[in-house]
Amino acid sequence: MDKKFDLDKIEFCKEPPIQEPDRQYYYMKKCRESVKAQEAALGRPLTACVQNFGCQMNARDSEKLRGILSEIGYQIIDTEEADFVIYNTCTVRENANLKVYGHLGTLGHRKRKNPHMLIGLCGCMMQEPQVVEKLKTSYRFVDLIFGTHNLYKFAELLCLAMDSDRTIIDIWKDTDKIVEDLPCQRKYAFKSGVNIMFGCNNFCSYCIVPYVRGRERSRNPEDIVNEIERLAKDGVVEVMLLGQNVNSYGKNLETPITFAELLRRVEQIDGIERIRFMTSHPKDLSDELIEVMKDSKKICPHMHLPLQSGSSRLLKIMNRKYTKEQYLTLVEKLRAAVPDISLTTDIIVGFPGETEEDFQETLDVVRQARYDSAFTFIYSKRTGTPAAAMENQVPEDVVKDRFDRLLELVQQISKEMSSRLEGQTVPVLVEEVNTHDKGYMTGRLANNLLVHFPGDEALLGKIVKVHLAQGKGFYYMGEMVQ
Ligand code: 5AD
Ligand code: SF4
Repeated sequence: MDKKFDLDKIEFCKEPPIQEPDRQYYYMKKCRESVKAQEAALGRPLTACVQNFGCQMNARDSEKLRGILSEIGYQIIDTEEADFVIYNTCTVRENANLKVYGHLGTLGHRKRKNPHMLIGLCGCMMQEPQVVEKLKTSYRFVDLIFGTHNLYKFAELLCLAMDSDRTIIDIWKDTDKIVEDLPCQRKYAFKSGVNIMFGCNNFCSYCIVPYVRGRERSRNPEDIVNEIERLAKDGVVEVMLLGQNVNSYGKNLETPITFAELLRRVEQIDGIERIRFMTSHPKDLSDELIEVMKDSKKICPHMHLPLQSGSSRLLKIMNRKYTKEQYLTLVEKLRAAVPDISLTTDIIVGFPGETEEDFQETLDVVRQARYDSAFTFIYSKRTGTPAAAMENQVPEDVVKDRFDRLLELVQQISKEMSSRLEGQTVPVLVEEVNTHDKGYMTGRLANNLLVHFPGDEALLGKIVKVHLAQGKGFYYMGEMVQ
């Protein structure tokens, strides 16, 4: 746990402090008293479950929620049979929302049998007013609803929810506030996500993120470096720097700094052996960043570079601010500077007005860029975005057919690409005991692929050398080399 405050030293009789994060630690202590009282009444420990529905930014936020809950005294469990269940939601595509409503239905049944149970909802979906309206009318059993901008207030809001029989709702439209130093419970002891910025200013015409995550805000480089130094002291060897558009990091800080410069500073931190980052927007990917990657010993040779579409015509309507040719030039530059780089991407099929010719351009980029892997998405109409109002939506059967063709091509190339290290011996971060065979461990290559090899739990979190004996398409089988 990354923490700086001690709840036992907080005095209770005083008014809650105004300043953050002190105020939240005060409320954590207050919640802890309630949890203790309930535990005494029930004669057992109280449990809490945080279910994450979203991207890596959400996953990191969920670690903060778990950190706060654990500080409050809840036992964190993975199943929804808990005394407190909170869903950290995503709304980037419609099915993300549908999934949450499905889960909520089941949870409602459980709550009817266990009235003492508390249910919370937070994250991107809660920033949509029509969602909150629906929850207020059809899901009245929910106890606590908050959004993306005030996650740091979780302890304070939970404290209110514990004392109220009405739903506590606190949604902010936007914020310029960044609260540092809240507790956090990491999923892995040896690797961690680190937020470097929040929000997005790009307004790609299909995307709801700028509306639900607000304007771009970068953290101060000193705060980021301090956090990573603390993580390194706590045994973390790999960090993933997180932001919707990391390439524009630092532009709006009082003392501006580039993302490449931030990477140079992170590279200096003792104990950190691997640095990853996500997500890069092609329009802001600088030559300086490519240089830093080329010279670095720690930055992993992996770039996630969302394409979205290969058609310059569509890219313009999507408001992506690059052309097919500019994108392919970037790919060339990256491959020239970091020859073994692994490239991954996101592609949307069926954006309004997409023609067969546009789609062929996308297939053409996939053939030329030769991605190690690609996340392919069917366009989903998001209320409030410019694309939702476009009239020429593509018929479902056409989209489905294109999606299948794209997937086939992506998988074929990715199979060829991912076996290219066969026969080499490479450093691997050992991440898990193999889920199928306990005699095997699963490790991650710098390029983000996985390898399974005979080994035991003592290797967890270590970087070891593994001979990649057999490429299996999307993973390797290997043996550890002493
Ligand atoms: N429909 C489909 N996919 C979308 N994405 C973002 N918005 C939409 C949408 N409305 C995809 C983009 C982005 C990824 C995180 O989700 O490809 O890069
Ligand atoms: Fe959405 Fe575009 Fe921002 Fe990515 S860069 S979060 S796709 S608006």
